Amino acid sequence: DTELCKDRDNFPPLKNDLILRAARGEYTEMIPVWAMRQAGRYLPEFREVRSKHEFFTLCRTPSLACEVTLQPIRRFNLDASIIFSDILVIPQALGMDVEMIPGKGPTFIRPLEHPKDLKELEHDVDVDDKLGYVYDAITLTRHKLEGRVPLIGFAGGPWTLMAYMIEGGGSQTMSKAKQWLYRYEDESHQLLRLLVDITVKFLVGQVKAGAQLLQVFESHAGYLGRDLFNKYSLQYLRDICKNVKRELVDAKIDPVPMIVFARGAHYALQELASTDYDVISVDWTIDPKEARNKIGGQSTIQGNLDPCALYANKAKKLIGKMIAEFGTQRYIANLGHGIYPNVEPSQLDCFVECVHAYSKNLNAT
Ligand code: CP3
Repeated sequence: DTELCKDRDNFPPLKNDLILRAARGEYTEMIPVWAMRQAGRYLPEFREVRSKHEFFTLCRTPSLACEVTLQPIRRFNLDASIIFSDILVIPQALGMDVEMIPGKGPTFIRPLEHPKDLKELEHDVDVDDKLGYVYDAITLTRHKLEGRVPLIGFAGGPWTLMAYMIEGGGSQTMSKAKQWLYRYEDESHQLLRLLVDITVKFLVGQVKAGAQLLQVFESHAGYLGRDLFNKYSLQYLRDICKNVKRELVDAKIDPVPMIVFARGAHYALQELASTDYDVISVDWTIDPKEARNKIGGQSTIQGNLDPCALYANKAKKLIGKMIAEFGTQRYIANLGHGIYPNVEPSQLDCFVECVHAYSKNLNAT
């Protein structure tokens, strides 16, 4: 495994490129499907591994991160894998201590309280050195996937990371982080710019290590209205995509499709469609037809079944309705947010099988 972590030249040939074709706007004979947080606590085999290792130890140990990444791929006919890691590895690389506390979630030991705390961050981190463990996990996983499905790399959106770094964990209101946006405009932009630069390096590094698609999770977009989003999120999300693609071209590496998930940003779908992202991922509160209208024909859409719809007795009916409304092309089926820990694995299996069967059928008629 230690050798495979470093061998970036001899990856097994890809056998299922459905999601890549959908992302590029090419014909797909059936809809590709995966689930955000598909590696996680709803799987007994994940809980088993997790019971023996602290969360960030899993992230930092390539053989373990690879193992839990593969767990859902072994069970279900998913069309993509996503590397097991967390968005908070970037704040960690900047020198902040984060712990995963059971029942509470991620917790920063010393959150940013005041703009003067920005000085404490490591401003010229060597991202490739600090986060090399993610690259090693990606390279190893590309080998162990044996070409079954593409591997997705990811990072958090800059506003979402900034919010975590200031709030120190989850929050109902994000009032501390939003206070910065209203009161310390220059310092907010300074922090967001720093996060963009690191994120670009990190995503480029993930592609060099073997990631075949990238997703940016701006999970806290919904706390911003249109004006704050335009000012503090949109331009930075746009820069991340533009700069990652440019750096890959400069390094003579084929750019990979990029997905943006700005959860709760109903108001921004048109603007997001005008960026260089290939795929716009929409949350479960957005109406499929409205999403298509706003996003238009130039981007692929990903989403957006309510994660709780998996509990429904008539889940198949809900999945069928979603597919009928999105259509079978330029579309990647997913949940509208991460899968919950109390979902039965069989319920995700039903989702995957149902998407494939219904879409094959629709394409045939
Ligand atoms: O999707 C995948 O399967 C890949 C792995 C992945 C994880 N986190 C693993 C994880 C990904 C893509 C993430 C992204 C992430 N992490 C986001 C963006 C997506 C979203 O949900 O909006 C955010 C906001 C985080 C920060 C974070 N990490 C939170 C809020 C939590 C949940 C805390 C809890 O206890 O529910 C985590 C922990 C986490 N990240 C778990 C997993 C499997 C579960 C924690 C555990 O095992 O204890």
